[in-house]
Amino acid sequence: MRDLLKKRILFFGGKGGVGKTTCASALALAAAKTGKRVLLVSTDPAHSTSDIFERLFSREEAEVYPGIIGIEIDADFEARRYIETVKNQIAKLFSPSVLKEAERQIELVSTMPGVEEVALFDRMGDLIVRCADSYDLIIFDTAPTGHTMRLLRMPELMSSWIEALSKRRKNLITLNRTLEREGSGEPDPILTTLERRKEKLELVRARLMQHNFTGFVLVLVPERLPIEESARAAGTLRDSNVNVCGIIVNRILPENLNGSFYEARRKQEQIYSEEIRRRFAEYPSIWIRQFETDIYGIKNLERLSEMLAGPNDGAPLG
Ligand SMILES: Nc1ncnc2c1ncn2[C@@H]1O[C@H](COP(=O)(O)OP(=O)(O)OP(=O)(O)O)[C@@H](O)[C@H]1O
Ligand SMILES: [Mg+2]
Repeated sequence: MRDLLKKRILFFGGKGGVGKTTCASALALAAAKTGKRVLLVSTDPAHSTSDIFERLFSREEAEVYPGIIGIEIDADFEARRYIETVKNQIAKLFSPSVLKEAERQIELVSTMPGVEEVALFDRMGDLIVRCADSYDLIIFDTAPTGHTMRLLRMPELMSSWIEALSKRRKNLITLNRTLEREGSGEPDPILTTLERRKEKLELVRARLMQHNFTGFVLVLVPERLPIEESARAAGTLRDSNVNVCGIIVNRILPENLNGSFYEARRKQEQIYSEEIRRRFAEYPSIWIRQFETDIYGIKNLERLSEMLAGPNDGAPLG
C-alpha cells in the first residue's frame, strides 16, 4: 500500500461491480489520513462516489472530506463545453460567410457517438496537466474496463488524427501559396491550434506512461470472469506501456463460516485465489475480506482504508 501512495496518479479499474469505487474511495481516505491532499475523480458516467461519501460531488473541484477534493465528471456537460470551445476557436478563424457552414458541420459532428469520450478524455487530460502540481495524489475511479482502455488509447488515436489534419492543412497552404504566388510569414492559426492540441495530448500521454508517476490498480474478485478480464487488461496496459502497480483482490469470504453452501464457495475461492497468485505473481497484491454489509459512509470507508493499510497488506488471506 505504501508503494501505491508513492504514486502521484492512480487509476482504479476492473470489471463491473468488483469494488473499484469502494477501493478508490478508501485509498483516497487512507492517503488523506497521512496528510496528503487528494483529488478523487469519478469518470464513470454512472457515478457512485457521492453515494459512498454520502456527500454530493459536483462537476467542479469541491472538498468532500478534509484533505479530499472530489469531482464527478459530467460527460454531457463536458461534451457541450468541448463543442462550444471548438466553435469559438473556429469562429476566430473563419469569415462570417463560411462560419455558418462550419457551425452546421460541427453541430453534425457533435451528435456523433464518441464525442463524449473525447470530451471526457480532454477533461481528464486537463486535470492531469493542471492539477498534478496542486495535489499530492490524483485518483481516478473509472468505469468498467473496456471504456477505460479506450480512454487510455485516446492520445494515440487522436495524435494520428491530428497529424492527418495537419498534413492536409499544410498541403492546402502550399497549394494556395503556389496559386497565389505569395508567401506570408504569418503562422497559420489552424496549424497552431492543431499543434497545441497535439502537444497537450503528448504531455498527458507522457504522464500516463511515466511509471514512477502514474499507476493502474486492478480490482478483482476471486471468480472466473473478473480474473480473465483483469488478465486481459493487464496485458493491454503493459502493451500501452502503462504501469500496473498492484492488484486488489476484493470480497474474500470471511473465516469460520459453516454450512455446505459456504464450504462449496470457499473451495471455489481457494482454487481461484491460487490461480490469481499464479497469474498475477508479478504484481503486489492486497487481499480484502467481504464485509458483513455493503460499504458506504465514512465509518465503513475508514474501516476499509485501515484494512488497505493494515497488517494483511500484501498477504493472501484464507
Ligand atoms: N469488501 C466488501 N465487502 C462488502 N461489500 C463490498 C465490498 N467491496 C465492495 N462492496 C459492495 O459491492 C458493491 C459494488 O462496489 P463498487 O460500487 O465499489 O464497485 P465498482 O467496481 O465501482 O462497480 P461499477 O463497475 O458499477 O462502478 C457496493 O454495494 C459495495 O458496497
Ligand atoms: Mg464504480
